[in-house]
Amino acid sequence: MAPWVSLFFIYLALLSGLCFAADPFVFYDFKVSYITASPLGVPQQVIAINGNFPGPPINATTNNNVVVNVKNELDENLLLTWPGIQMRRDSWEDGVLGTNCPIPPKWNYTYQFQVKDQIGSFFYFPSLNFQRASGGFGPFILNNRDIIAIPFPKPDGDIVILIGDWYTRNHTALRADLDSGKDLGMPDGVLINGKGPYRYNTTLVPDGIKYESIQVDPGKTYRVRVHNVGISTSLNFRIQNHTMLLVETEGYYTIQQNFSTFDIHVGQSYSFLVTMNQNISSDFYIVASARFVNESVWQRVTGVAILHYSDSTRPASGPLPDVSADIYNSWSAMTQPRSIKVNTTASGARPNPQGSYHYGQINVTDTYILQSLPPVSIDGKFRTTFNGISFVNPDTPIRLADQHNVKGAYKLDFPTKPLNRTPRVDTSVINATYKGFIEVILQNNDTKLQSFHMDGYSFWVVGMDFGNWTESDRSSYNKWDAISRSTVEVYPGGWTAILASLDNVGVWNLRAENLDRWYLGQETYMRIINPEENGDTEFAAPNNVLFCGALKSLQKDQPSAAISNLGGRFKVFFTLIVGLFASIFTLS
Ligand SMILES: *[C@@H]1O[C@H](CO)[C@@H](O)[C@H](O)[C@H]1NC(C)=O
Ligand SMILES: *[C@@H]1O[C@H](CO)[C@@H](O)[C@H](O)[C@H]1NC(C)=O
Ligand SMILES: *[C@@H]1O[C@H](CO)[C@@H](O)[C@H](O)[C@H]1NC(C)=O
Ligand SMILES: *[C@@H]1O[C@H](CO)[C@@H](O)[C@H](O)[C@H]1NC(C)=O
Ligand SMILES: *[C@@H]1O[C@H](CO)[C@@H](O)[C@H](O)[C@H]1NC(C)=O
Ligand SMILES: *[C@@H]1O[C@H](CO)[C@@H](O)[C@H](O)[C@H]1NC(C)=O
Ligand SMILES: *[C@@H]1O[C@H](CO)[C@@H](O)[C@H](O)[C@H]1NC(C)=O
Ligand SMILES: *[C@@H]1O[C@H](CO)[C@@H](O)[C@H](O)[C@H]1NC(C)=O
Ligand SMILES: *[C@@H]1O[C@H](CO)[C@@H](O)[C@H](O)[C@H]1NC(C)=O
Ligand SMILES: *[C@@H]1O[C@H](CO)[C@@H](O)[C@H](O)[C@H]1NC(C)=O
Ligand SMILES: *[C@@H]1O[C@H](CO)[C@@H](O)[C@H](O)[C@H]1NC(C)=O
Ligand SMILES: *[C@@H]1O[C@H](CO)[C@@H](O)[C@H](O)[C@H]1NC(C)=O
Repeated sequence: MAPWVSLFFIYLALLSGLCFAADPFVFYDFKVSYITASPLGVPQQVIAINGNFPGPPINATTNNNVVVNVKNELDENLLLTWPGIQMRRDSWEDGVLGTNCPIPPKWNYTYQFQVKDQIGSFFYFPSLNFQRASGGFGPFILNNRDIIAIPFPKPDGDIVILIGDWYTRNHTALRADLDSGKDLGMPDGVLINGKGPYRYNTTLVPDGIKYESIQVDPGKTYRVRVHNVGISTSLNFRIQNHTMLLVETEGYYTIQQNFSTFDIHVGQSYSFLVTMNQNISSDFYIVASARFVNESVWQRVTGVAILHYSDSTRPASGPLPDVSADIYNSWSAMTQPRSIKVNTTASGARPNPQGSYHYGQINVTDTYILQSLPPVSIDGKFRTTFNGISFVNPDTPIRLADQHNVKGAYKLDFPTKPLNRTPRVDTSVINATYKGFIEVILQNNDTKLQSFHMDGYSFWVVGMDFGNWTESDRSSYNKWDAISRSTVEVYPGGWTAILASLDNVGVWNLRAENLDRWYLGQETYMRIINPEENGDTEFAAPNNVLFCGALKSLQKDQPSAAISNLGGRFKVFFTLIVGLFASIFTLS
């Protein structure tokens, strides 16, 4: 920790009670740059944070103020986004193009936000230009405050595992393929924590690839946080001979269940408790393999890491553990996501039970059916759609346009259901009702499994099935212990129904988390504004807000001669500290 940081904490302690800053701060400096790495044995351009791929963990506690100074050393625009982190009243820090101007090359931007009333396992990633395909991602851990009980014994350790499909082509090459109407084709492999597969089979895995090895002590129980940070491949995760007890997903404690294999779709995060209760003289395989595909064709697309018992003398051996038996009837795997329920009696970020909010009794105010179709050609371009609209980002971010009276930046006419008309490209946004209770039916008429994500909120996953959703399906909704999360799977030819309480003012991205589908236009935003806004329901734009589009002339040049690492909102506070410093100085 830099000395000024600890000084800052001391002053914070001195000043606590004086203003909003009673909750502690955590600070990070992120330099985002290209490095050359060879995760699959082929040298390629990879996006690193402070020279590391994957990026370092952000490790914070409920209600902390998180400050991340992001320096863009890439040759193109950048934004980091923090999916699942709710950014209460603060879409200014969300890091997507509809709400934030991009950080140009050589510039920096200091994100500052409070992780209000949340716990759980998340990850961050770069949201623009297909950059996630080249890296730039890392874990985001939100610990509970010490005074809040967790619904399981304190684990002996914490292990983060980032799994994801990977191409040896860089993100600019992949982007060029999509732009020219090509499908990306099969990935070249699956990485585990940025590393290629262990050589479990000499035919399938070339020599000399660096693999991940995770050391554990026999008899201990670890919390293993697994995230699918990949582009578009659903992965099945398993650890040879070990049972995984599911305990948490994206910020909510689940009913605890044992699994030997688990499907994790793009953008999803899960915590499992794993006890190291196997033969202590052996190592074991950790596997993440492509799901719902022809396994013999996709054999190469398998991530393999090693679970290394500290006293082990024997390498992992035998065939890789099998995916569950339902591989032969793979769609029946929907039983797995359907079984994920919230533990209504466990405390979440607060001491009261997670289930005490009776969402099942609230009347729905608005229903949106969002239909996704396979890519289509619109004006000669390869595009994807929700309800026939392929989203293009506004030149001026939505909320910034509102506040500076920029007209025509976007339209508030997003259709509530699929319309029988020619698909088009548009900046069409949902006019959502503040304090409304929204029902969204995700109808996947595409041929691939899709992950759907909502920024700024968690939603209840109340139903999931095959076929077309009809109103009568509402009678089958889970109205009592549905899981809350922010990224949910939607099976091809099926639907998923979610409910959300629109109490978080701002403009929030809804999107396909599958990167190719998202890149080609499968997203929109919900604009949620308190009609009686009095300055309390939404934060004002931060002082360091970046300007672009119609407001470009308001942007001052960088690098600015600022006095410290602290961004806009802390400047007033900083002045206070300088004042205090000065007075201490004068007194002594
Ligand atoms: C990315 O890939 C393209 C196409 O292969 C190549 O021309 C370009 O140099 C690569 N970029 C970097 C920085 O490696
Ligand atoms: C995160 O911080 C907690 C304490 O606040 C610490 O116990 C834990 O080891 C840290 N985890 C990581 C991954 O740094
Ligand atoms: C960029 O970083 C500098 C300090 O490193 C800081 O003073 C400045 O506010 C940052 N710029 C933005 C827009 O956050
Ligand atoms: C739910 O949480 C409670 C309270 O922490 C815990 O005692 C119980 O074991 C949990 N139940 C399940 C099924 O996970
Ligand atoms: C390695 O994989 C190849 C191709 O699938 C297979 O034919 C062979 O039996 C495997 N070797 C071992 C030792 O499992
Ligand atoms: C894993 O379990 C199987 C079946 O119980 C057993 O035959 C095998 O020896 C175990 N593998 C290791 C490495 O302990
Ligand atoms: C999970 O499996 C372990 C044994 O591996 C068992 O002790 C435990 O009771 C199981 N938990 C649940 C919730 O089924
Ligand atoms: C562990 O594996 C070793 C080597 O295969 C074997 O000799 C030993 O009996 C095993 N121990 C147990 C408890 O299964
Ligand atoms: C929901 O709507 C029904 C019928 O319109 C009404 O009777 C009921 O009071 C409403 N419930 C709530 C909680 O507003
Ligand atoms: C958005 O919704 C509000 C409240 O329902 C309504 O008053 C307003 O006219 C709508 N705006 C547009 C552009 O449709
Ligand atoms: C679902 O709806 C589409 C039209 O939107 C229709 O073509 C299709 O046949 C329906 N599928 C089923 C299984 O009813
Ligand atoms: C998609 O919709 C078409 C007609 O609109 C229908 O024929 C087809 O069965 C649907 N496919 C899936 C996977 O839902």
